[in-house]
Amino acid sequence: MDNFLKVINELQDVFSTVGTSPDSIKLPQIVVVGSQSAGKSSVLESIVRKNFLPRGGGIVTRRPLIIQITQDNQAVPSWACFLHSPDKKYTDFNKVRDEIVDETDRICGNSKNILPDPITLKIYAADLPTLTLVDLPGIVKVPVGDQPENIEEQTINLVKSFVQNPNSIILAVSPGNVDLANSEALKMARQVDPDSKRTLAVITKADLMEKTTENRLVLEGKSIPVKLGIIGVINRSQAKIDEGQPIDECIAHEEMFFKTNYNYISGEMGTPYLTKRLCKILLEHVKECLPELIIRITEQKVLQQGILDSLGKQVEDPFDALVQLLYEFCQNFDRNIEGKESIKLTSGREMSGGRHL
Ligand code: GDP
Ligand code: NA
Ligand code: MG
Repeated sequence: MDNFLKVINELQDVFSTVGTSPDSIKLPQIVVVGSQSAGKSSVLESIVRKNFLPRGGGIVTRRPLIIQITQDNQAVPSWACFLHSPDKKYTDFNKVRDEIVDETDRICGNSKNILPDPITLKIYAADLPTLTLVDLPGIVKVPVGDQPENIEEQTINLVKSFVQNPNSIILAVSPGNVDLANSEALKMARQVDPDSKRTLAVITKADLMEKTTENRLVLEGKSIPVKLGIIGVINRSQAKIDEGQPIDECIAHEEMFFKTNYNYISGEMGTPYLTKRLCKILLEHVKECLPELIIRITEQKVLQQGILDSLGKQVEDPFDALVQLLYEFCQNFDRNIEGKESIKLTSGREMSGGRHL
């Protein structure tokens, strides 16, 4: 897991080294889609290993929640603030969760209706990667309470507005105890990403999944093709949350569960594997951005050279070295994820300090 933090932070450094313009290249945001109570919020929490989202059986998430995490070594303890009240700092993440609930109620009233207006939460932490996550309301099939008749259409349009963004990775979350053929998440993902180039299927509640041949084939990826993969996970049940089960304990249980029940594929199941896959997808993204990054670097080079020329100074060429490092970084990316070798690229901060970019 530390690997996730490390890889993402290295990637962010690559971008920040060249990302001085406002439209700077960014890592994709990670967006969860799925039906209500599929376990979307739980999946996001397990990826960053922090408890701060409202979870539960009912319609908990009624507005999109954009979570902008910034890695910051000074942020000990980690803290958060909301765009709607930027002066208020939170260090107690239980209070963050309460404020998400309160702010949802403030705008939605105590109606069950869903609103497209997002809540933006900023988290600063030493032990989290710089990354944007989006927690979305679930796709609702049947209106409850005072929900309008067209609630399904409303939620679908809302979710679509986020996943259509080509710079988002879709975590299509489907609960293991419901027939995957009816998965709202996969249906939605297929509409906006037919080649599943940026969709990762996550089967939650594997502990509640019946051990049928059909389900085994689903986990093996043999019944429904999703190119980036189908990964089964177990997060905490409501009872375990109420008992205060630590996330680490849940991950240990998850590993044991897959080893016992699906030993032949257990290496490709579970939350640690999910984060590893996510790293790999994000690295692929960097690779795709490489030509663009190199153009940016060259532009900066011309700019800097001009300034230095006007001062009558000579520099050796740090930019070529940077381009070379980017290439090497991407060539080595498989090894980087496996963690067998430390990441070769010097961080952007060190680079800009040490090499006078
Ligand atoms: P969301 O509505 O899609 O965001 O779903 P939540 O993350 O709020 O989860 C809904 C309920 O399912 C919560 O009570 C969770 O505790 C429970 N849950 C989530 N994942 C799992 C799982 O893997 N196994 C079990 N048994 N319960 C889970
Ligand atoms: Na829920
Ligand atoms: Mg939720």
